Amino acid sequence: MKILVTAGPTREPIDPVRFISNRSSGKMGYAIARAAHSRGHDVTLVSGPVSIPAPAGVRLVEVISAADMLRAVLENMEWCDALVMAAAVCDWRPTAPCSVKIRKDDFRGPLLMERTPDILKTVSEMKGERTFVGFAAETGNPVPGAERKLTSKKLDLVVANDVSRTDSGFEVDTNQAVLIAADGTSYELPLMSKDELGGRIVEWIETHRAS
Ligand code: CTP
Repeated sequence: MKILVTAGPTREPIDPVRFISNRSSGKMGYAIARAAHSRGHDVTLVSGPVSIPAPAGVRLVEVISAADMLRAVLENMEWCDALVMAAAVCDWRPTAPCSVKIRKDDFRGPLLMERTPDILKTVSEMKGERTFVGFAAETGNPVPGAERKLTSKKLDLVVANDVSRTDSGFEVDTNQAVLIAADGTSYELPLMSKDELGGRIVEWIETHRAS
């Protein structure tokens, strides 16, 4: 299969020295890309700014903002059989980023923000026969929010995780997820390494596309 994976955070500029972002390290998306490549798939990884090495054998497309990530996903949609959106896309960006550094005495606030594009919702219109996997980063019980995202973003599978735990979600090497599929099946997985979870997600896609 040809698999398009997104990973990492996005950065939304305030001025040339400051930005809005989030805690995503990219580890989960990179683990999925590695697992997909090691299982023989052709992988393109669209990555926000991270400090981990590019997986060998994977085509890497580096982006900064949500708008850049949307562009890169659109450019690769035609090509892919499956899209895995593991990126933590910023939901808001400063409305009018400044082209020069804002001096501390010149900022009076508040910082005006606007919504960024929802990448999954935008590309859902051109889904066709492609398999879409999304993540649901929730605090507390992840299932209700994940079920809502499964439907609203036309996903085949949502990987739900509670990002408020210290052993799961952002930055750490482990994750505890619930996989919820559009056909109503769900699997509550134990805490495992992100590499192992990456393999499970790729296996799920393989089985889903073979059925
Ligand atoms: N996502 C996206 N575009 C955005 C925000 C999120 O494509 N602008 C994708 C993420 O990559 C993930 C899924 O949508 O696969 C859910 O992201 P999440 O941050 O959990 O939820 P949101 O859609 O941002 O909704 P909410 O803020 O209500 O939790």
